Amino acid sequence: MDEMRKEVLYSRAEIQKKVKEIASRISHDYAGRELIIIGILKGAFIFMADLIRELSIPCMIDFVRAASYGAGQETSGKVVMTKDIETSIKGKDILIVEDIVDTGLTLAYLVGWLKERNPRSLKVCAFLDKRKRRKVDFEADYVGFTMDDGFVVGYGLDFNEQSRYLPEVYLVKK
Ligand code: PRP
Repeated sequence: MDEMRKEVLYSRAEIQKKVKEIASRISHDYAGRELIIIGILKGAFIFMADLIRELSIPCMIDFVRAASYGAGQETSGKVVMTKDIETSIKGKDILIVEDIVDTGLTLAYLVGWLKERNPRSLKVCAFLDKRKRRKVDFEADYVGFTMDDGFVVGYGLDFNEQSRYLPEVYLVKK
């Protein structure tokens, strides 16, 4: 699979610069508050690991696993939570960290699901945003790169579970 034709979309240096910028904004916005960061498995794990190490504020972390069932690269619109957080978020400041927002279905569902537990605040940070692909109205509060349509791998993002380990983001060529 890693023999697929692809080109670098975002280099390590570009990613590092962007992660630092977002971390600086988050550190400023949550200064003096108790922040819990929730990563969405699996895709977000690399971005989240880089992001929290650039924060200048303390945070706690937890994870959820969301599966959207569909064929190939298309989501069906049906989101199922297959792993819950292990922390109580009632009255806490929560930041969801995601690798990519595409149709918006996963995050729209997850935000509603977590809000039922009455956090003090709930915001979303997404590394990539495919804004034009939305099927539901959804805006992330912190966005790394906004990109056009196109299939991307690397930096946590996969194609059939391959290529997550690549340190850069690649655009797969058809
Ligand atoms: C990807 C990505 C988001 C979701 C975005 O996850 O990590 O969670 O799809 O798509 P949406 O905006 O259309 O809902 P995927 O289901 O591929 O799982 P993964 O994180 O394990 O790769």
